[in-house]
Amino acid sequence: MEQLHINGNRLWERLDDLAQIGAIAGTQGNSRLALTEEDGQARDLVISWMRELEMEVTVDGIGNVVGLWNGTNTTESLQPVMTGSHIDTVRSGGRFDGNLGVLAGLEVVQTIAEHGHSTEHPIAVGFFTGEEGARFAPDMLGSLVYVGGLDIETALNSIGIDGKKLGDELKRIGYCGTATCPGIVPKAFIELHIEQGPVLETSGIEIGVVESVQGISWTELTIEGQANHAGTTPMTMRRDAGYVASRISTFVREIATQIGGVQVGTVGKIDLHPNLVNVVASRATLTVDLRNTSGEILREAEDYLEEFCKEIASKENVVITSKSLARFEPVEFSEELVNEISSIASGLGLSTQRMTSGAGHDAQILARVCPSAMIFVPSKDGLSHNPAEYTSLEEISAGANVLLHSILQVAGECS
Ligand code: GLV
Ligand code: MN
Ligand code: MN
Repeated sequence: MEQLHINGNRLWERLDDLAQIGAIAGTQGNSRLALTEEDGQARDLVISWMRELEMEVTVDGIGNVVGLWNGTNTTESLQPVMTGSHIDTVRSGGRFDGNLGVLAGLEVVQTIAEHGHSTEHPIAVGFFTGEEGARFAPDMLGSLVYVGGLDIETALNSIGIDGKKLGDELKRIGYCGTATCPGIVPKAFIELHIEQGPVLETSGIEIGVVESVQGISWTELTIEGQANHAGTTPMTMRRDAGYVASRISTFVREIATQIGGVQVGTVGKIDLHPNLVNVVASRATLTVDLRNTSGEILREAEDYLEEFCKEIASKENVVITSKSLARFEPVEFSEELVNEISSIASGLGLSTQRMTSGAGHDAQILARVCPSAMIFVPSKDGLSHNPAEYTSLEEISAGANVLLHSILQVAGECS
């Protein structure tokens, strides 16, 4: 049988077409928060491509979209081999994060179909609602519902950063579908994604074979102090929510540096109220993102944060309430699948490196129900969640070819 290759230019063009929706002026990046108008338009476009490829498209009650493809020799009753990712972005995101995994899935199907090849198992390409978690928490929300890890009612009631309810927004953009959740359990799930970090570029490696994903802890802290006059209130009498927010923010950096190793900590969002030059802030809301490959160390980091909040609340006489937005233990991918992907990449003449993912992904959620793994391609300057995110056509093509041959192998190539 001839050795198949994906069409890199076609994949690149689709990435470019999709990136026109929610494009950030003057950049190559995207602003397409989950369930916004732009997300709706992007969904319509990707579904139109699925239909062109004669895929059977279903939308479930949380808006996850799955395109199912059967070749001429496919046994339709067999479990599909699934690939895909997400097409929502952070507000100031790049064009590759998530989108690559979905469009590479379509490219794989098109390549197999146009060369008259077929697979024993159907191939499914999915995109899951709200992977980013930047508008509606938790992250990976759609895939969590897909595997039965989060009940649909709770997910539909998630309130976004703009105060809107997920269920209302889903209806508004016309993506509250009828397919049931949990969805069909795939035979396996393989996701192609950009690395979003500096490891592959630094070591000059073409393909990251992802064997695990680190644990993630997101917490929203609300600090209630007292508004007062900035000029007249003695420092000893203040109940300053803004000051406490900045101390917590600094402490999060200290947690990461003191624990060291792979521990990371981020305060990515702070809102002050009333947010005026001459008023002591009465309220602050901030988010804390802590991650570690060790579940135990991650819990330690969370404990340090909790302890610090108690201490500073008492010193400044403020009330701090804490709400968990997302909590995921570290995940190990299927060793068998990881080995298969690694040998396929090497067989294609590509250099590989086993690695852990620092970012969260739908594959880590699908790993709860089926053998799962990921393929990474390099990110220029290690940049992601930034409009300047970039991976070259050659690097993307290499990753998509590994995806193609991994899917062919797992789905049982037949002619
Ligand atoms: C998703 O992009 C994450 O925050 O890891
Ligand atoms: Mn992503
Ligand atoms: Mn992302």
